[in-house]
Amino acid sequence: MKNYKIAVIKGDGIGPEIINEAIKVLEVVAKKFSFTLTFENYLMGGIAYDLTKNPLPDETIEGCLGADAILFGAIGGDKWDNLPRELRPESGLLRLRKSLEVFANFRPTKVYDELLESSPLKKEIIKGVDILVVRELIGGIYFGTPKGREKNRAYNTMVYSVDEIKRIAHIAFEAAQKRNKKLCSVDKANVLDVSQLWREVVNEVAQEYPEVHLSHMYVDNAAMQLIKDPRAFDVILTENLFGDILSDEASMISGSIGLLPSASIGGKSAIYEPIHGSAPDIAGLGIANPIATIASASMMLRYSLQQEKAADCVDYAIQATLKEGYRTKDIASFGAKKICNTQELGSIIAQKILD
Ligand code: IPM
Ligand code: MG
Repeated sequence: MKNYKIAVIKGDGIGPEIINEAIKVLEVVAKKFSFTLTFENYLMGGIAYDLTKNPLPDETIEGCLGADAILFGAIGGDKWDNLPRELRPESGLLRLRKSLEVFANFRPTKVYDELLESSPLKKEIIKGVDILVVRELIGGIYFGTPKGREKNRAYNTMVYSVDEIKRIAHIAFEAAQKRNKKLCSVDKANVLDVSQLWREVVNEVAQEYPEVHLSHMYVDNAAMQLIKDPRAFDVILTENLFGDILSDEASMISGSIGLLPSASIGGKSAIYEPIHGSAPDIAGLGIANPIATIASASMMLRYSLQQEKAADCVDYAIQATLKEGYRTKDIASFGAKKICNTQELGSIIAQKILD
C-alpha cells in the first residue's frame, strides 16, 4: 500500500482546530482509496517562538524537505506583534516558503451555488465565478533588498528579475491552457519600472502559448473589476504583494475567506494552506470554518500525491455538505439548515466521503 509522509504545521490561533478537521477527512479518504498517510507535526510561528525562540526551527525545514507534502494551518497573533521583524511568526512562514523555493501560489476562488446568498455581492454577479489567482510567492517587495528601518524613514524594494517573471508566467500560462484559456496579468506598469519589465516578459512568454488569450490590467483597475464583473476573469497572474491583496478580495466573492484553499508549488516540496490567517479573536471557540483547510488538503491529494480520485471525493463531500445546508457561522445565511461548530462540520464532510 502506498504511504505518504505529510509534514503538518498547525501553527497558532485557529490553526490547530482547522488542521485537525483536515486530518480527520484525509484519514477517511485515504482508507477509502487504499493508501496510508503518516503525519508528522512540526513547529512554526508564534508557538515555535514561544518554545524555541525561533519562529522557524531548523527541524521544521528539514522535516518539510523530507516530506511528500506540507499541510499548514495558520500563524500569528497580537501576542507576537511587538517582536523584532525576524522573530515574528510571519517571518517564519516567509522563510519556509523561501527555503522550499515554492515560487508559485495557486489561489482558486469558486462560487458554490449553495452559497450564492452568503456573498456580500449580488448573486447575478457572482454565479458561476471560477477564478485562479497565480501569485508569485518568493520575490517582489516581500523579499527585495535594500530594506530597512531608520528612526524617521523605512523602506522596502520591489524587485524582479527576468528569470523570476518567466518561471511564474510559464506556470500561469500552463494553468490557463488547462482551464478557459484566458490569462490576465496584473501589474502597475503605468507607475512602476518593475511592472514594466513584468509586462514585457509576460508578453514574451505569451508567444509560446498562442491559444491562451492574454490581457494586462493595472492592479487598481483589477481590484475594481473583480467586484464589478468577476466572471470576466479566468486566471490572474500577479506579483507577490498584489496577489496577497487581490486573493483576499477574491475570497469575498465566494462568501467567506474561510472557504479558500491554496497550494504553493514549484519548489522542493509543496505547501497546502488556507488563505486566511490565524483569527486569534475566534481561536478556541470552535466556530472556525474548516472548509478552506479541507479544500487545501484536497489540493494536496491532487497536486502532490497524484490521488485525483480521492481529491474529487473530498471536493464532492464539501459540496454535498453545503448542499444539505450544514454551515459554520461565517457562511450561515439563506439555505442554512444547521449551524455547526468546527468539529461537527469536519465530521459531516468526513461522513459524506464514506456515504
Ligand atoms: C497569506 C498571508 C501571508 C502573506 C502572511 C501571513 C505572511 O497573508 O498567505 O496571504 O502575506 O503572504
Ligand atoms: Mg494574505
